[in-house]
Amino acid sequence: MPKSSEDPINTSDGKVLSGAASKPPQNVDLRSVMRYFASAVTVVTGALESGELFGLTVTAFTSVSLDPPLILICIRNESSATNLLTKSMRFCVNILAEGQQAIAEKFSLSGEAGRFKDLDFYIGKGGSPIIRGSIGFIDCKVVEIILEGDHTIFFGRAVDVSAEEKQPLLYLNRRYVKLELE
Ligand SMILES: Cc1cc2nc3c(=O)[nH]c(=O)nc-3n(C[C@H](O)[C@H](O)[C@H](O)COP(=O)(O)O)c2cc1C
Repeated sequence: MPKSSEDPINTSDGKVLSGAASKPPQNVDLRSVMRYFASAVTVVTGALESGELFGLTVTAFTSVSLDPPLILICIRNESSATNLLTKSMRFCVNILAEGQQAIAEKFSLSGEAGRFKDLDFYIGKGGSPIIRGSIGFIDCKVVEIILEGDHTIFFGRAVDVSAEEKQPLLYLNRRYVKLELE
């Protein structure tokens, strides 16, 4: 049975915390800590039946399961991509290489127009755009959508993947950074 935040908590050293004491503070600013969590940078792309292409820069991406091969992405409810992903029910996660910062910047600007202009890409087996020069891609169909807080979680089942060893583009403390190997 999941515990409610009101339930007392028995700690491993025998103490009992009251429900009130264990309540999370109300004004937690998650961004103030997440900014120090270094992430790889991806561009999530998709296409509608009409041929309209869409995409956005995403760091909230993780693998979920190997068998079956599942991943997830978290997208702001207010982003135009939330609606487009719900319609297309497919997307591709392109993992950017260190030389692709300009692509990340372009796909994080507000408004959809022009993101695919001058971009080197092709349409993959799953129907979504695949960006050439990336470290790799995970082409997915959407298997579940969960609305949670101000983001929507899209679970994707991989239908095609590809990767090659390259240096990644990273994001840390609101900046793009490159890995310096010893
Ligand atoms: C480094 C970086 C990472 C981002 N990660 C996410 C993310 O994980 N989820 C998300 O919804 N938006 C993320 N964004 C913001 C979107 O890229 C941005 O809101 C989007 O491109 C806006 O598009 P829209 O105006 O079409 O909604 C990120 C932006 C940057 C610069």
